Amino acid sequence: MNPLQKLFEDQLADIHYAEKQLVKALPKMAKAAQHASLKKALTDHLAETKEQIVRIGEAFESIGKKPKTKTCEAILGLLKEGGEIMEEYAGTPAIDAAIICAGQKVEHYEIATYGCLVTWAKLLGHKQAASLLSKTLNEEEVADKGLSTIAESACNAEAEAA
Ligand SMILES: [Fe+2]
Ligand SMILES: [Fe+2]
Repeated sequence: MNPLQKLFEDQLADIHYAEKQLVKALPKMAKAAQHASLKKALTDHLAETKEQIVRIGEAFESIGKKPKTKTCEAILGLLKEGGEIMEEYAGTPAIDAAIICAGQKVEHYEIATYGCLVTWAKLLGHKQAASLLSKTLNEEEVADKGLSTIAESACNAEAEAA
């Protein structure tokens, strides 16, 4: 197999695992969030994440492969740290800022992975996969910017003022 093709399938399996972990983590983050805007952003992104998992399955199928997952140590580490910071700041005015920080670390990981996947899909001539994964990449970028906006418009100032 073309090594880039192998790498593409590996990383698609990696992000598939990561998205499945996020379906479990996002409801906990939304529950811990205090601001209604942050709760909504996380809940909305949960719905998008479920769609993204469907899209990954479609991307695998579009290249004639069965959907696979591969343990992603990075997401496990990010979520472990996210859980720890949420515990540490629970009940304090900085809880939302802490959740946003943990969430943005995850978004940046996803953006890096989907960015590579889209570029490789185009190089490999996987047009349908490139289009599916571009849609997800765009959602991750919008989610990341949305978290910045919520932090800057409310949560950071509240954490600092307290
Ligand atoms: Fe995602
Ligand atoms: Fe995301």
